[in-house]
Amino acid sequence: MSLPPFFYQVFESLPRQGPGSTEATRKAFSLVPLLPNDAKILDIGCGSGTQTRDLAALTDRPITAVDNHQPFLNAIAAWAGEHGKSGRIKTVCASMDALPFEPGQFDLIWSEGAIFIIGFEQGLAAWKPLLKKGGYMVVSDAAWFEQNPPDELLQWWKAEGYTPATEEELAGRVKRAGLRLVATVRLPEEGWWENYYVPMLARIAELRKTHGTVPEHAAILDSLEAEAETYRKFKRYYGYTFFVMQN
Ligand SMILES: C[S@@+](CC[C@H](N)C(=O)[O-])C[C@H]1O[C@@H](n2cnc3c(N)ncnc32)[C@H](O)[C@@H]1O
Repeated sequence: MSLPPFFYQVFESLPRQGPGSTEATRKAFSLVPLLPNDAKILDIGCGSGTQTRDLAALTDRPITAVDNHQPFLNAIAAWAGEHGKSGRIKTVCASMDALPFEPGQFDLIWSEGAIFIIGFEQGLAAWKPLLKKGGYMVVSDAAWFEQNPPDELLQWWKAEGYTPATEEELAGRVKRAGLRLVATVRLPEEGWWENYYVPMLARIAELRKTHGTVPEHAAILDSLEAEAETYRKFKRYYGYTFFVMQN
């Protein structure tokens, strides 16, 4: 999937490219048992790497960070260089549906806010073969938190081309993928608002000054602003849930 270049102009300078929080990353990681000394970690759809850096603080095992947008990977490599972690954090530019890795080599696959790009079931099916037997996979994805979401919200998600499922439905998909569901963790509201939409809305306001008169750019800014407004209005109905799973 290729996005318009202006989209990256919005996101490249943001701290995160999707909702998330260091506390939630830590909590989900705490549910994964101690990794073996020779363990290898894969971070898929890493963006500019906030969760990669969080993982690097939680474990000293090597991490391979994958994204299909090289400038995000450059930011991670630059950070790793500045912090003496180049030997431990590797970046690979590849598509998440065609990952260039031998099967059965990772102890932990991590993916925050990115599996929706290929779909929850498709992501689990594509990534599971890369795990060692007994290895862990942790992904966050959109889930309904309340029954009967309003029609306006359903229509918005439909227009986005992705529909959340309930946590129970997603748990069923985990089981059908042949993985054991260890635990789920809900991303708190600040992971959406303070960490993601607040910086994004500030970036939108800045870009409107220089790009607001270009119709296709204004349309992107409008749709991102509408996304934040949808969350503000309907946040009790949906959110991100981390699924901690074992192969
Ligand atoms: C919503 S962002 C999440 C980024 C990061 N995990 C975070 O939470 O801040 C999704 C990421 O997936 C990347 N991406 C989009 N399509 C991809 C693909 N086909 N293969 C690999 N990465 C992809 C984007 O460049 C972006 O960095």
